[in-house]
Amino acid sequence: MKILAIVGSKNPEGKTGLCVNSFFETVKQNNECEKILLTHKKIENCRQCDFNGWGKCRTEGICVIEDDFQPIVEKIRQADAIVFATPVYFSDISESMKSFLDRLRRITRHQAGKTDIEGKPTIGICVAGGGGGGAVMCCFFLERILTGCGFVVVDMIPCRRQNLQLKSQILNLTGKWFVEHVSSEGYK
Ligand SMILES: Cc1cc2nc3c(=O)[nH]c(=O)nc-3n(C[C@H](O)[C@H](O)[C@H](O)COP(=O)(O)O)c2cc1C
Repeated sequence: MKILAIVGSKNPEGKTGLCVNSFFETVKQNNECEKILLTHKKIENCRQCDFNGWGKCRTEGICVIEDDFQPIVEKIRQADAIVFATPVYFSDISESMKSFLDRLRRITRHQAGKTDIEGKPTIGICVAGGGGGGAVMCCFFLERILTGCGFVVVDMIPCRRQNLQLKSQILNLTGKWFVEHVSSEGYK
């Protein structure tokens, strides 16, 4: 199974990165796992191309901006499952995750853009590393966007600074469960 993690944190070894590592810890022995840090990529904000706010996203399911967005979308299409992991900022997803998902949800309004994305299993991880509040709210926002893109959201895992040790064990178990019970065709 090929699992791609899309991470909205700046720090590869930060709390969000470590949560993804926990998910991958056992899984990576028998599966192909890749982690992409959005902050290390060039992802412009949506340009709201036309006067009506839409653009080729609506008519063709593509984005006209030539940056790292499209290559990441291709990686999503080639993967069997996706992990979306974000630090919690203001009880919401991070800016890099927002810029990426703003564009992804637009192209997936069109049938062509949905190709190899619709129905793909996904797990969301939201890490509140400050006071610890807002992880559940962040999960709510992230799940709504991912569902809107057409992913099958298998689980959303809120984590907070105070329970990271517990959640890292849960993420490890979730990873094991995920590869046993979920395939690119859905739940087994
Ligand atoms: C702009 C900003 C807003 C934040 N808002 C919250 C918040 O609402 N709740 C919280 O617990 N932590 C908040 N934090 C702390 C981050 O959640 C914490 O730094 C993050 O989990 C660290 O992840 P990382 O190590 O992967 O960067 C905020 C941090 C920043 C920079």
